[in-house]
Amino acid sequence: MRRTAAHNLMEVIMKGIILAAGRGTRLYPMTRPVCKPLLPVYDKPLIYYPLSVLIQAGIRDVLVIVPPGEADTFAALLGNGSQLGMSIQYTVQPVAKGIADALLIGGKFLNGDDVCLVLGDNIFWALDLEQTLQRAARKNRGGTVFGCRVDDPRPFGVVEFDAGGKAISIEEKPQHPKSNYIVPGLYFYTNEALSIAGQLTPSARGELEITDVNLEFLRRGSLQVIPLEDNYVWLDAGNADSLLTAAHTIHALQHGGRYVGCIEECAFRQGWITEKQLRALGQPMAMTAYGQYLLSI
Ligand code: G1P
Repeated sequence: MRRTAAHNLMEVIMKGIILAAGRGTRLYPMTRPVCKPLLPVYDKPLIYYPLSVLIQAGIRDVLVIVPPGEADTFAALLGNGSQLGMSIQYTVQPVAKGIADALLIGGKFLNGDDVCLVLGDNIFWALDLEQTLQRAARKNRGGTVFGCRVDDPRPFGVVEFDAGGKAISIEEKPQHPKSNYIVPGLYFYTNEALSIAGQLTPSARGELEITDVNLEFLRRGSLQVIPLEDNYVWLDAGNADSLLTAAHTIHALQHGGRYVGCIEECAFRQGWITEKQLRALGQPMAMTAYGQYLLSI
């Protein structure tokens, strides 16, 4: 990872990729005309949440990987990012070949830089989320991923820790999970991840598995798995139940005064846009609680 010179020694030069290329077949018929990351989770589109994670990590240069034919719909929502003081580009994943394929698709965009890859349907919230993300972005040496405790880890990548809290294994969708800690869809990698992804062969489900990338970093002794305490909220909105749970959770948090996934606020707090620009973004939405919130900051 590089640091910028002179004016700000600590600014992170890491690029972000949002993998938003899943059509969302587990959400049919809702996702027939509208793809999953554009569906609402309470008061904003799902993709706002992972985008806000990248912004909070301090990442200003983002590539959104979308399904074929959808670049314009995503661009209609997020534009080129300049309104948030950042850059957002779009590219297509022609065939759903797995999460690790996003690294290969993003190779040219990354141009040798490090990457934070986030899945377009993963939602994170905690009071100290920003600090956790920025620490991961700054300290990353090989791979940095997280561990979240869930009741049923079987549909996910499952991490096993030794007695000293060090990750010793990760298994993708195991029948008999070795722990209740899953690896959520948020991955900080050095650029080595590209060559690792380039060496992968498809798994039994025909995908380039991100778990295999993590396993290679683990084998090299350069994977850090940070367990997230139970005060961290992690949600994935892959089916109708989890989408509804996510909406309820965001509703409850926001009614308790904690706004989640508010990209305009996050960009403002990063100092990427001015108060005047923030107000200009809130004004056309002043008839909604979301717009009023922006205007109240
Ligand atoms: C993917 C990953 C898995 C990870 C999960 C997080 O699962 O393969 O390791 O835990 O995302 O959402 P998938 O969405 O492909 O089932």
